[in-house]
Amino acid sequence: MKHGIVTGSSRGIGLATVELLINQSNSKVIGSSTSGENPFEHSNFKCLKLDLSSSVSIKKFVENLGDIKLDFLINNAGVLIEKSDELNIHMEQLKHTFDINVFGTIKFTEMLLPLFTPKAHIINITSDWGSFSEQNFDAFQPHYKMSKAALNMYTKLLAKRLEEKHITVSSLDPGWTQTDMGGKTAPRLPKDVAIDIFNLVNANVESGQFWHQGKIRKW
Ligand SMILES: NC(=O)c1ccc[n+]([C@@H]2O[C@H](COP(=O)([O-])OP(=O)(O)OC[C@H]3O[C@@H](n4cnc5c(N)ncnc54)[C@H](OP(=O)(O)O)[C@@H]3O)[C@@H](O)[C@H]2O)c1
Repeated sequence: MKHGIVTGSSRGIGLATVELLINQSNSKVIGSSTSGENPFEHSNFKCLKLDLSSSVSIKKFVENLGDIKLDFLINNAGVLIEKSDELNIHMEQLKHTFDINVFGTIKFTEMLLPLFTPKAHIINITSDWGSFSEQNFDAFQPHYKMSKAALNMYTKLLAKRLEEKHITVSSLDPGWTQTDMGGKTAPRLPKDVAIDIFNLVNANVESGQFWHQGKIRKW
């Protein structure tokens, strides 16, 4: 049985991923939400409270894990707080976005490092908006884009650091998806992305790569 964590499991992509992992594989999963509540209930699943903008909350979450070993971590929780037509930099928005998508996610991951088994897989859910090779690049939502680009670099750095421990680190770009964040007109459904994440977690792949729909994509 595999043990792992999926952050942001209360809605959207995280919720669909937890449902798939529990129903389609022999996994025991710990999820998270900012309230500690989760609509999904199962004997192999529990949800703990986690606010990635708070060091105290991150520490408490890790303490509550107790003496467990982790086979996977899906860093899925994230925020997009700016409007769709935002072009300008607002330092408060930049700081708040980085607090959750970058600093909190990195602090959380670093605190969990001693718990990973050899061959464990850490997947950072980033975005095509955090890519430097995006064909349809525009200047909207700069805070979010910078945060996901930074998280992509963390993937590469951590993959190098953990090479000798045989721990795989990946970034995954879900594509535009129908969630509270993505809105109602997005072409992909959370369950489609859950399948991509599920397949990547269970695959033996090269570490330090950026994935989209089962294929390596350009950074
Ligand atoms: N949807 C898209 O089109 C799209 C595209 C590219 C990348 N992504 C990425 O995919 C991931 C999931 O996105 P989604 O669309 O499923 O988002 P979502 O529906 O908005 O869900 C976000 C999740 O993150 C959690 N969260 C929010 N603020 C948090 C905080 N301060 N600390 C800890 N957890 C927090 C939420 O918990 P609560 O319910 O408690 O608020 C929720 O479970 C994100 O990293 C996002 O950037 C999404």
